[in-house]
Amino acid sequence: MAQKYVMAIDQGTTSTRCILFDHRARLVSVAQREHHQHFPKPGWVEHDAVEIWRNVDRIVPQALREAGIEANRIAALGITNQRETTVLWDRHTGVPVSRAIVWQDTRTDELVDRLGAAPGAEQVRERCGLPLATYFSAPRVCWLLEHVPGLRERAERGDVLFGTMESWLIWNLTGGTDGGVHVTDVTNASRTLLMNLGTLDWDEELLCFFGIPRRMLPEIRSSTEVYGDTRRVVPGIRIAATLGDQHAALFGQTCFAPGEAKCTYGTGSFLLMNTGTEPVHSTHGLLTTVAFRIGDEPARYALEGSIAITGSLVQWFRDGLGLITSAPEIETLARTVEDNGGCYIVPAFSGLFAPHWRSEARGIIVGLTSYITKGHLARAVLEATGWQTREVVDAMNADSGLRMAELKVDGGMTADHLLMQFVADVLAVPVMRPMVAETVSLGAAYAAGLAVGYWPDLEGLRRNWHRAAQWLPRMEERRRAEEYASWQRAVELTFGWMR
Ligand code: G3P
Repeated sequence: MAQKYVMAIDQGTTSTRCILFDHRARLVSVAQREHHQHFPKPGWVEHDAVEIWRNVDRIVPQALREAGIEANRIAALGITNQRETTVLWDRHTGVPVSRAIVWQDTRTDELVDRLGAAPGAEQVRERCGLPLATYFSAPRVCWLLEHVPGLRERAERGDVLFGTMESWLIWNLTGGTDGGVHVTDVTNASRTLLMNLGTLDWDEELLCFFGIPRRMLPEIRSSTEVYGDTRRVVPGIRIAATLGDQHAALFGQTCFAPGEAKCTYGTGSFLLMNTGTEPVHSTHGLLTTVAFRIGDEPARYALEGSIAITGSLVQWFRDGLGLITSAPEIETLARTVEDNGGCYIVPAFSGLFAPHWRSEARGIIVGLTSYITKGHLARAVLEATGWQTREVVDAMNADSGLRMAELKVDGGMTADHLLMQFVADVLAVPVMRPMVAETVSLGAAYAAGLAVGYWPDLEGLRRNWHRAAQWLPRMEERRRAEEYASWQRAVELTFGWMR
């Protein structure tokens, strides 16, 4: 019998990829397309959902072509996605009502303040595990309902659908206006501020608090189950899993047991720790989220520390300041100096996420003297990622009562050895990277493959994890403590800037 493969679509912040994996989790082909980033006003970030859909339409056939296989040799498709990015579209025409509002967008800042002062605000976190912040989807839906003329009436009539990117893609893939399936999964729903963490259903109180009509919302399903077959692009492929990209990376890193953690270093960075079948409510600025739900099994939960700006600080250094011409050059530049020369950069471009949740914070560079060169700035850029990771790990240890013993890492920035060594140094734990660096896509593929019996169980998946690189801590404790104190002082200076 001809060998079968599993397909993953990873709809990320900057690009969309389609990857085929074989049974041993080896990458067989990759097709990728970037989409435009729209910044219509300071703090606004938008994507064109139709452009993203067209990209999917191109990369899926391309990935199949490059692997030289037909769609009937795809056992299942898993979809993973940038989370929280919000798209509303007309169910009769399939046309989005506006560009999608991206997770980094801070236009809802004032709205979030207003909601924070409203009766019922104190219950939000307890019900859904998230603080009221611009990061999540619900305030964006409110903003659109307030600002797009006539939209509220259309939404109340049931003419408008809400989705994060996986819902949009699944609806389109399964037929769009011709019977498309409107679903999401527990992981993506757990990022909206609207799902009750206990019932894993939309929470009536929260819908009422935000004033969002239930009929706009997709049905919440498990992360691994068959939602339907593709009827467009390449017909006949079973869509058998969907997870938010960070949850998919946790899955791809095989962090299936409580206490296991990973950090994905991309545009932003996201550290998730599996906490088992009970949600752990954070008192240290972390998010409580659903890690994954396999079929009818109980959901597994996670604590998450989300860092808004890490890789995108390197992009800014390249595109905004023009101090390097390609992202990998930052390591070479940083190696021209011994240390940061006393300079710290706190990249609060979209406020600060975990563990601070200060949407009014704005970025700063401190410690400038005439001694500082672009090499020191390059170091400060990389170190900002290390220190932000440290803040999240401290919060995670405090919330979970555990001491994280090691950290599995993945994502583009893990190619930077200087940075990974710095992360190991400031955390004082070993940091390790697996052979298959594409953990987000792999996690979506694993989940889809499990749903259809392509892979039998979690233990089998664990055996596919092989270490490719490891960094051990080398920094002296005194230096670590002193520099961390300087970083923390720099962070405090960003607070309140917009007030
Ligand atoms: O929460 C936002 C996150 O899911 C985005 O991830 O990798 O697309 O930047 P990424």
